[in-house]
Amino acid sequence: NTYDFGLVGLGVMGRNFILNVADNGFSAFGNDLDQEKVSALIEEGGDVDKVNATTDAKVFVEALSQPRKIMLLVPAGKIVDAVIENLLPLLDEGDIIIDGGNSFYTDTDRREAYLKDKGINFFGAGVSGGAKGARRGPSIMPGGSREAYQHVKPIFEAVSAKYKGEPCVTYLGPKSAGNYVKMVHNGIEYGLMQLTSEIYDLLKKAGGLSNQELHNTFAEWNKGRLQSFLVEITSEILAQKDDLTDGDLVDMILDKAKQKGTGKWTSQNAMDLGIPVPTIDIAVSMREISALKDERIKADELYDRPSPKAVNKADFVSKAEEALYFAFIMAYAQGMHQLADASKEYGYELDLGEIAKIWRAGCIIRAGLLADITDAFKADKKLPNLLLSNSFVQKVQSTVSSARELVSYGAENGIPLPGLSNSLTYFDAYTSSRLPLNLIQGQRDYFGSHTYERIDREGIFHTEWEKE
Ligand code: 6PG
Repeated sequence: NTYDFGLVGLGVMGRNFILNVADNGFSAFGNDLDQEKVSALIEEGGDVDKVNATTDAKVFVEALSQPRKIMLLVPAGKIVDAVIENLLPLLDEGDIIIDGGNSFYTDTDRREAYLKDKGINFFGAGVSGGAKGARRGPSIMPGGSREAYQHVKPIFEAVSAKYKGEPCVTYLGPKSAGNYVKMVHNGIEYGLMQLTSEIYDLLKKAGGLSNQELHNTFAEWNKGRLQSFLVEITSEILAQKDDLTDGDLVDMILDKAKQKGTGKWTSQNAMDLGIPVPTIDIAVSMREISALKDERIKADELYDRPSPKAVNKADFVSKAEEALYFAFIMAYAQGMHQLADASKEYGYELDLGEIAKIWRAGCIIRAGLLADITDAFKADKKLPNLLLSNSFVQKVQSTVSSARELVSYGAENGIPLPGLSNSLTYFDAYTSSRLPLNLIQGQRDYFGSHTYERIDREGIFHTEWEKE
């Protein structure tokens, strides 16, 4: 008996992914060094002809049909290299290794080149949707050899999430295209999470909404144009009671956010490319500020802060909905812009419409908005920025004034809204035909003879600014 699919790393994600593969009619074999995880999977699988597992890499590799399709769901970093080295002597030419973790894209490029030399096809495939997604249908973002993808395609299309029957997976491009797209997905995820948390804070502190009212508000929003996984789970989190006290759990959770690096990589790489993603940048910075809890407590004692002015609750809630929708668009616009540029820079040949399409279900940033984003990039494959799509003008134009109002409310009343204000500033700057950076060019030329260009004639100019 040979198995259709192999998976190394039987943590929650790996175990769930294997069970999902088996649910869809493929047989799957798992491998993990931990005997307990191996036994647990065999027991849960029920039928060893469909789901089996071993701690022995040789037994594992020999049990797979060729070309072997082996997915790794292990922590990003050195462990991926170690697992590859362990498998390598046991594999045959044409076999396929798929790294399903959040590996850094240059690591994927290195591994792909190294394995290509040895006749092995290597894929970096971002998998989004958490443990539940892995079990019931994730969004999968694979990059690597287009030919080799044909062997993986039937399995990935079967196990992935479906949006109106369409699988949330597609071949994205060569080399590290899959990991890169997943990295930017996570950058957008950081942005959306920061924005949601700011609106929650504003509605609570200024709007005076109770957790129950906040729960209702987000639940209501999730039925409209803000429909999204993150708004949906926000509503559920706000309703969660605490087991240890009489209160609500959200109030008891420490306000220090952790991070594993993908949001930061998105920002860092955007800087390298020269593409502005300020909503994502500030989301990373806010996790950093949040971590400085002790300093924040001390600083809070040193400075006064205005107490929030009273607002009309219903009006405030409806403005918050508009502002959040506006800012969500900015976060997606920035991420897509980065992808468009990276595609050229790294030769990924990304199809942004296809990317938005496979994000419509299964992944963490899935949202009703992604159907509109898909349509915008399908209508114009070369669209540099979502804000330049006619289909988005009305959506943005009709919501920006609420973003302005809330940002100024936050500024006047001492409630930090960095994600919202960066989103607004991004919009105002990106849509300005004239920015004051002419002055910066003047300053550069003044102190360093760095030269400048003119608006009225071609050429490079320098001025002797200082009078003797
Ligand atoms: C997903 C998520 C996932 C990521 C977590 C944690 O798409 O399923 O992006 O891959 O690991 O969101 O990320 P942080 O620990 O950096 O918040």
